[in-house]
Amino acid sequence: MLPDIEASKSEYPSIDWTKYAKHYDQMCNHNPSYWEMINSVLTAIGTLNLPESSRILDIGAGTGNLLFSLAKERNDLSLFHLDFDRGMNELASAKYNSLGQKNTVEIVACAVEEANFPDNHFDVITTTNALYATSEPQKVLSTAYDWIKPGGQLVIVDFGRPQNVNDWAWYMAKTSLVTQGIAPTIKLFRENWEVARQNKITAEAQDSGNYWLHNTSEFKIALEKSGFIVNKLDQCYRGYSDIAVCSKPH
Ligand SMILES: C[S@@+](CC[C@H](N)C(=O)[O-])C[C@H]1O[C@@H](n2cnc3c(N)ncnc32)[C@H](O)[C@@H]1O
Repeated sequence: MLPDIEASKSEYPSIDWTKYAKHYDQMCNHNPSYWEMINSVLTAIGTLNLPESSRILDIGAGTGNLLFSLAKERNDLSLFHLDFDRGMNELASAKYNSLGQKNTVEIVACAVEEANFPDNHFDVITTTNALYATSEPQKVLSTAYDWIKPGGQLVIVDFGRPQNVNDWAWYMAKTSLVTQGIAPTIKLFRENWEVARQNKITAEAQDSGNYWLHNTSEFKIALEKSGFIVNKLDQCYRGYSDIAVCSKPH
């Protein structure tokens, strides 16, 4: 049975995304599983063979890593970045501007719960590790369904398992030690202690029911409950996240 994912929400705790933003890319750049996840989403979007001017929305687009990579591959798409955090959006904006093609990616600075797009508007909606942190994940899925054109796709990754701060710290340390050595690894951890603090808050928010926890089959049920046909389903991000490619029926 689908757990009532809206039922036990409380106001706090929740991540301070602006504090996180300052360290986000540095940590991602030392986290191979992050780039494997982003590349899986890019591959899934690539296999759709989207025609020129297709409209793509990234919900909770953060520092823009996904759309920046996509814009570099395909400058003929119409890309929309949605995120409510100013710190994240500023970093994303700098990346998009560096492409030298202004307006390649349009930033929509608001909460997904407050966004207002027409129905049947996007060819593809994507979202990576952001849905779990929204106030009403099931409602966001249903809204995304409405915004996608009939026959369009949702390419989604969501962080569903309990955050294990020590497991991630150990993984990052091992990876950095192998690729960078001891001194840069110590520097990385010293400079980015805030990330561990924010990850601890994620764990607390999950414990308190403020952030959605799911296993892979609960994730599939939530997608189907909003009307999607789930065409591909797997785990990624070291098993912490689920990835799905879904379509909206014609
Ligand atoms: C873990 S980050 C993921 C960022 C990006 N998708 C990535 O994979 O690198 C989650 C992002 O979701 C955004 N976010 C969380 N809740 C949101 C909401 N209700 N509306 C819009 N953005 C939200 C945060 O500001 C943050 O940038």
